[in-house]
Amino acid sequence: MKGIVLAGGTGSRLFPLTKITNKHLLPVYNKPMIYYPIQTLVDAGIKDILIVTGGRNSGDFLRLLANGKEFGLKHLNYTYQEGEGGIAEALALAQHFADGQKICVILGDNIIEGSIRQAVEDFKRQERGAKILLKEVPDAERFGVAELRDGKIVGIEEKPRRPKSNYAVTGIYLYDDTVFDKISQVERSQRGELEITDVNNAYVREGTMTFAFLEGWWTDAGTFDSLLRATNLVAETERKRDLALIAQSAAAAAADED
Ligand code: G1P
Repeated sequence: MKGIVLAGGTGSRLFPLTKITNKHLLPVYNKPMIYYPIQTLVDAGIKDILIVTGGRNSGDFLRLLANGKEFGLKHLNYTYQEGEGGIAEALALAQHFADGQKICVILGDNIIEGSIRQAVEDFKRQERGAKILLKEVPDAERFGVAELRDGKIVGIEEKPRRPKSNYAVTGIYLYDDTVFDKISQVERSQRGELEITDVNNAYVREGTMTFAFLEGWWTDAGTFDSLLRATNLVAETERKRDLALIAQSAAAAAADED
């Protein structure tokens, strides 16, 4: 399966932080934001990755990530999104790269604690369609929200004023190669964008949309509050990891002494 990180957009909700750089290059604790979604793909065993970016700072991605050595990769692919057309328009640029294969798409500002490996493995075995990852949240109105009935998704609403559930659609999407046809049939929303939620609803109508619940914490990082939250969550997780390592080596040293 191929991986696609969407890292375009103007990051207007983070202005003036994004006045002179791309949102996905901003720091989240000790790394640039885009490191996290790339690592999520790599940890799920996805090694063939395309970065979709745009704007005036797109060259900085190449300087920062180069061929992906930091992630144990030999090569990274890049493409350029002109203008501001939304997530689905950015994804349409990946058609050539996808080359008929299944894809795993992750938004460049989505950071998770756990792994998506199981969902990726399950989707490899899914004959066709799409799979999304849901997370229960207290502020569903900020996201795409899935309505579930009898264990199935019956519809997704983008940032509804009155959400029908607490299940946010995270920015991690698994698609078969019909996604590009579906994108071409979507019309621009009121905000002038091709909405990924409309693409997902095309799969829901077709009856081929599956879902899984994401384990561990999940956050986006596109607003001041969520950027702060992302930094705090990553910092806390790193501290816990360090403490666990210290405890492990102390236990190993004690065992050696016995
Ligand atoms: C986008 C999607 C939304 C999804 C969210 C996840 O929203 O449109 O459905 O829940 O990403 O981060 P955005 O934050 O780009 O407006």
